[in-house]
Amino acid sequence: MKIILLGAPGAGKGSQAKLMVDTYQIPQISTGDLLRTAKAAGTPLGLEAQRYMDAGLLVPDEVVIGLVRERLAQPDCQGGFILDGFPRTLPQAEALARITDIDRVLSIEVAPEVIIGRLTSRRSCQKCGQVYNLVSYPPRTAGVCDSCGGELYLRDDDREETIRKRFETYEAQTRPLIQHYRDQGLLLTVQGGDTVEETFSRARPLLDACR
Ligand code: AP5
Repeated sequence: MKIILLGAPGAGKGSQAKLMVDTYQIPQISTGDLLRTAKAAGTPLGLEAQRYMDAGLLVPDEVVIGLVRERLAQPDCQGGFILDGFPRTLPQAEALARITDIDRVLSIEVAPEVIIGRLTSRRSCQKCGQVYNLVSYPPRTAGVCDSCGGELYLRDDDREETIRKRFETYEAQTRPLIQHYRDQGLLLTVQGGDTVEETFSRARPLLDACR
């Protein structure tokens, strides 16, 4: 199964992707995670990406398309994948269509006021990347990852001013993809305002029907 997850920042793409990985045994490809890994490693690509990410802007298309093309060529993607955070612009969607076909696009819809609260209370593990939420999914010990004992941190782009900019960027550059994929007959929509598990229980039958 080849799936794209669409949704505003904080809509829960990463959280749904984790459940989909377990259920369908296909890898999650998060361009945000790939870029944060490059940033943490201090590679030239990572340092360039950091400027855009910290400002709530999109990293240039050619950079992200190159990363995704490389990742999709890996053997673990041959049986399918979940694209989390890609494509985010029409040129990215067009480039993806030249790389591979897609089975379904799942758009996760959540009200903006819910999302701001989610993002300011998100904490991520420095070491393994596990994502927590101080309100809906807190770690057992404050500041410490349950899985690996790593330190939890607030992402640089999860500060309120940057979140607002990320929303503007989403509305201007990414939301048009919903219509793009609807026109292609690939779009599925799920309300994502309830818990992670409730959202997945609504998404799963839609996805199962496409297998
Ligand atoms: P990226 O990392 O992709 O960020 P994003 O799209 O803004 O999405 P998030 O990771 O913030 O949220 P999410 O929807 O995955 O939600 P999550 O499940 O974590 O991208 C970061 C930056 O990289 C971009 O701004 C851009 O600069 C660059 N970039 C990335 N891809 C790019 C591309 N293709 N082109 C150009 N630039 C690109 O959930 C959020 C929080 O809410 C968590 O704490 C979670 O525990 C909680 N939560 C989730 N679901 C629920 C729920 N149902 N109920 C309660 N809490 C919930």
